[in-house]
Amino acid sequence: MLKNSFPMNINGKFKDKDIISLDQFAPYDFKILFPLINKMKKISLEAKPSKILNGNIVVLIFYEPSSRTFASFSAAVKQLGGQTVEILNPQEFSSMVKGETLEDTIRVFEAYSDCIVIRHPIVGTAQKAANIATSVPIINAGDGIGEHPTQALLDLYTIYEKTDRLDNLIGLMAGDMLNGRTIHSLIRALSLFKKNKIYLLSPRSLRLKKSDFLNFTKRGIKLIEIINEKDIPKNADFWYWTRVQKERFENPKSYEKVKNIFVVDKKMLKDYGNKKMILMHPLPRVGEIKTEIDNDKRAVYLRSQIRNGMYLRMALISLVLGKL
Ligand code: NCD
Repeated sequence: MLKNSFPMNINGKFKDKDIISLDQFAPYDFKILFPLINKMKKISLEAKPSKILNGNIVVLIFYEPSSRTFASFSAAVKQLGGQTVEILNPQEFSSMVKGETLEDTIRVFEAYSDCIVIRHPIVGTAQKAANIATSVPIINAGDGIGEHPTQALLDLYTIYEKTDRLDNLIGLMAGDMLNGRTIHSLIRALSLFKKNKIYLLSPRSLRLKKSDFLNFTKRGIKLIEIINEKDIPKNADFWYWTRVQKERFENPKSYEKVKNIFVVDKKMLKDYGNKKMILMHPLPRVGEIKTEIDNDKRAVYLRSQIRNGMYLRMALISLVLGKL
């Protein structure tokens, strides 16, 4: 919305800002956001409908498959009395089929709405949309292998909720470091705080891009790449598991070679976990966490992590629309 070739820093003021990357955030911004997530939790548990977004329309335009992110944005707006216009797979069902450009699509939906949430397979598209839209904020719901800021915000909040801090953390991230946009955003988020140390467990071919690794470590976060589960630190505060991102592989055989090399089961948790840690996953999972873990209290992926997604999106949309 606010024209620039890069997203503007939040600087304590969310109103009218596009939400494109975790690079826009500073620790101070979480001091504003996090208490509001808590407030939204209370609002959503009340039977009375809230009026915070009364009269607001949010367009959700998703060029890639989504269930959780799409549904939680949609539910978030409705929880607050707002309305949504929802376009799933526009490449199949919209004027894009007739050859419409992203520019025109964004301009059109800008005219109908107060905010546009976009997911797209190409890195940088959310920023491109933000440059096109002059009157409404754009929220990035995932741009290819780039970033997924709202997921990282809810992940960060989930860690904070459990550990009561965001510094001095020891974490384990596992799965697809190369293509996982949730990983890319969460590392950025954790690098805003002091003395965080993250172990990255993946096959060599799915390590972070060298330039990303250097860019992140320059910020002060300690990243330790490991390829063997035996190197998992026993004192981690959180495990963040991810699926290998099948849709980013050109060759299905290369995907088959690396999928589900690291699978969390009861034995792995017993051998390398500890009592106070939490086990997170942005979902969907496709076999990398066994269902036998689901009833373990440490497994928050189908509990607080998923619920926090809606509360965070309620808070964030209200803030960018200047309603809080
Ligand atoms: C993630 C995504 O889309 O990047 N899913 C989500 O939004 N919760 C993770 C994934 O697809 O693996």
